[in-house]
Amino acid sequence: MASRVYIAVICLASFLCFLTLYSRGPHLFNFQEETAIPSSAYVRVIDPGDGKKWPYRVFKSSPLRPPNLTITGNGNALANGYVFLTPKDRKRGGVEQHAPYIFDTDGELVFAANFSGESGTTDFRVQEVDGTPHLTFWQGSSTHGSRAGHGYGEVVFLDEEYNENKLSLRQLDIKTLKPTEVIGVVDLHEHQMTPWNSILVTVFNNTPADLSSVGGPQDGWVANSMVFEIDVQTQEVLFSWSPLDHVLLNESHLPVKSYMGDGTKNALYDFFHVNSIQAVDEDRLLINSRHMWTTYLLSRKDGHIIWRIDGETGGDFGTLPENGHFAWQHHARAHNVTETSMMISWFNNHFYRNSNPTAPPTSGLVMELSLPPDKTKPPRLVRNFVLPDEHLHSGSQGSHQAVLENGNSFIGYGELPVALDYGPGADGSEVRWKARFGHDGYVHSFRAFKHTWQATPKTWNPSLLVELDEYSSDGIVGVHGYASWNGATEISKWNVYTGSNKDDLHKMGLAMKYGFETRFEIDVVSDGCVQVGTVLPCGKERRSNVACI
Ligand SMILES: *[C@@H]1O[C@H](CO)[C@@H](O)[C@H](O)[C@H]1NC(C)=O
Ligand SMILES: *[C@@H]1O[C@H](CO)[C@@H](O)[C@H](O)[C@H]1NC(C)=O
Ligand SMILES: *[C@@H]1O[C@H](CO)[C@@H](O)[C@H](O)[C@H]1NC(C)=O
Ligand SMILES: *[C@@H]1O[C@H](CO)[C@@H](O)[C@H](O)[C@H]1NC(C)=O
Repeated sequence: MASRVYIAVICLASFLCFLTLYSRGPHLFNFQEETAIPSSAYVRVIDPGDGKKWPYRVFKSSPLRPPNLTITGNGNALANGYVFLTPKDRKRGGVEQHAPYIFDTDGELVFAANFSGESGTTDFRVQEVDGTPHLTFWQGSSTHGSRAGHGYGEVVFLDEEYNENKLSLRQLDIKTLKPTEVIGVVDLHEHQMTPWNSILVTVFNNTPADLSSVGGPQDGWVANSMVFEIDVQTQEVLFSWSPLDHVLLNESHLPVKSYMGDGTKNALYDFFHVNSIQAVDEDRLLINSRHMWTTYLLSRKDGHIIWRIDGETGGDFGTLPENGHFAWQHHARAHNVTETSMMISWFNNHFYRNSNPTAPPTSGLVMELSLPPDKTKPPRLVRNFVLPDEHLHSGSQGSHQAVLENGNSFIGYGELPVALDYGPGADGSEVRWKARFGHDGYVHSFRAFKHTWQATPKTWNPSLLVELDEYSSDGIVGVHGYASWNGATEISKWNVYTGSNKDDLHKMGLAMKYGFETRFEIDVVSDGCVQVGTVLPCGKERRSNVACI
């Protein structure tokens, strides 16, 4: 029923659009065939060939330099949508240009956002904000060296015209490792919208704590990874939760002294490390702790722990099934929640920097829990996806979208610059699409996502560059035009205009749009000018700059 109404609305809208165009007269809407101008995708890859910096694409009409995704696949159906990545340099020259990027599944760039903050961006994806789809990502500074593992920054929201909003939470009373100049206190790990237009974020607060129970200093310090729920409109704090108030330090699997710190003021003990939060319903939140190897269900009313599933012991749920153990895990998400059951998916790193290299490989894990927890009804393994033939061990970060719209799943390997789409087959092991976007050890992307996205930039226009070709005779020259429009997803062709000067342009024909940047060939009078334009779904044309020879 709903879909019929939807189709009727679309038909009516297209008909009105048609009428509007037709009433503007024959120049704009013309049943005659238009001159086809030859065009193709411009593809140029720079390969530094040094084993460090990954090959990257360059364009003529845009300064963007995204990684050249090397893609393999088996040709079976992929879920609709684009791939969202935040390739980040590991301070070893692995990335030519940082940005939150959207690619199509052929590896063509769709959009690269601007960002601020010294450490780049994380967690780029599509979420519903104020009732409409938005791009969201985190930007800011992350901590380094023995203070590794978290960040201080803000959440950026871009609507379907790329208008920008931000959530920084500078007003929260949080002690950071960089007391000055943080652009906000939101941590890099999570910024998850709820259905009631609030956002759940992680925030690290440096807090004094007695660490003698775990062999650390009595006057020690912890990086207390807290959970906040914030009303997006008013920025009011709706809920906050501190692991120090609810779990024991000695339940952590991270030793006080590790590559991540030693419990002193400048190298804090990150005993809990919350890295994902999700509202299961209005009363309950699911949170994931990397260092406890545990996922908790919390009461959103008073913060008490309702139950926990522990990746080693099972916690409140009894013995875990074979291949259902998890450790150092990320991105816990609840699915198909009923009174008596819940599915949870994880990116199961099963590994951190100091793990034994023979640890089980990193996997995309899904289990079904019987509720309420009852040790006589242990969790059931739904899926434990391991990349065949290539046992990847991802020591940090990562994401797992367990069910896309066509039943496929999507994994971002975090510390390893690999993302893939696997099919819904019986054992879940059919890799349908896989992309690499960096050399191991040089590039990572905190999470990677598959999402559909439709947008038209409001504040920037299409961009055009022309280059003289060799051919020239009788006052006519051949030129190559290069046209792009960062982030415009709804266009399929370029109207090409030429003339003897910028005030005298006439439509020469139509070039099909290919790839991020379309290259076309056209003859122009010497010293002439070129412009492109593209007609948006409801008739309005957006023109590029005028480029003269
Ligand atoms: C760029 O990516 C394409 C598509 O995966 C691949 O065929 C090509 O070899 C890559 N180029 C370089 C220089 O890596
Ligand atoms: C990025 O910033 C530049 C300079 O302010 C601006 O011209 C461009 O349109 C911006 N691009 C995006 C995607 O916001
Ligand atoms: C952790 O500490 C608590 C109280 O401080 C203690 O009762 C418990 O036995 C300790 N657990 C371990 C595993 O050491
Ligand atoms: C949730 O249920 C739907 C419908 O049965 C199913 O297609 C989907 O795979 C389930 N989700 C998970 C995570 O298994």
